[in-house]
Amino acid sequence: MREPVARQNSETTPGEPLIRFENVSIGFHEGEILRDISFEVAPGETKVILGESGSGKTVLLKLGAGLLRPDAGRVIVMGHDLTEMNEVELLDFRRRIGFVFQEGALFDSLDVADNVSFRLREEAVSLEETEPRVREALRFVEMEEAYDKFPAELSGGMRRRVSIARAIVDQPPIVYYDSPTAGLDPVTSQTIITLILRLRDLNGVTSLLATHRLQDAFGLANFVFEPKERRVVPVWEDEDGLHFAPTNFVVLRNGEIYFQGATTELLKSPDSYLQEFLE
Ligand SMILES: Nc1ncnc2c1ncn2[C@@H]1O[C@H](COP(=O)(O)OP(=O)(O)O)[C@@H](O)[C@H]1O
Ligand SMILES: [Mg+2]
Repeated sequence: MREPVARQNSETTPGEPLIRFENVSIGFHEGEILRDISFEVAPGETKVILGESGSGKTVLLKLGAGLLRPDAGRVIVMGHDLTEMNEVELLDFRRRIGFVFQEGALFDSLDVADNVSFRLREEAVSLEETEPRVREALRFVEMEEAYDKFPAELSGGMRRRVSIARAIVDQPPIVYYDSPTAGLDPVTSQTIITLILRLRDLNGVTSLLATHRLQDAFGLANFVFEPKERRVVPVWEDEDGLHFAPTNFVVLRNGEIYFQGATTELLKSPDSYLQEFLE
């Protein structure tokens, strides 16, 4: 029998959700965008936020990172209620989580090493310490050879990998991924999903991942990164039953949670909207 691969991150208390949205609502001048959103993310879990373009996925991630404040409800991350924090506390909180922004959002005027070390410089980490940490993060995303290249010299997939290196340089227990495969071809998308699987299954990183691509969602839900074989394998079944990947779904529709649950529940659902979405 294989070992379950998801590890508990040392910062987490077993059993306690690491991220909790409680009845969260937010609107802008054009109206309410998210309404009464409640869900929990367990330590080591990657929660996939599925929804059409404009359904509020980016807004939801920004709420989870304290980049936006809800109009109602509470957002509790690692035991802290973000809605009760002041700006200084939020700044400090944001340093402890990783955020891979939509389109990667690298600084074009900085080389790869300076992009990846950005947070370490903000924290005044010494130069001697910075270089090995940057190299380690780049090695993890298999981009060490790009150390002194500029973003303009890289392909879209490479830039996305560098933005993941930047998010994990501090080894944060939580990483938010906003549409991490948007604009990439299927093969490159799969390399990004494999990186995310490694962070989930080897490092025990807890995540929210926004996407409108079902391939991403099922790649995360139906595969695990096997540490002994050092490769991605399908979830398996043995005498103990089916070993699930630690990934579940939230489907957003019209500002509300339309569905939340595991892959099997999503696939078995007779609901016509979900059926259509899955096709
Ligand atoms: N800062 C903002 N101010 C005003 N409207 C916003 C802001 N951020 C997002 N919105 C609106 O919220 C809606 C959801 O946006 P978004 O979360 O980016 O969707 P998704 O990421 O699912 O494509 C859109 O209608 C968008 O225009
Ligand atoms: Mg978005």
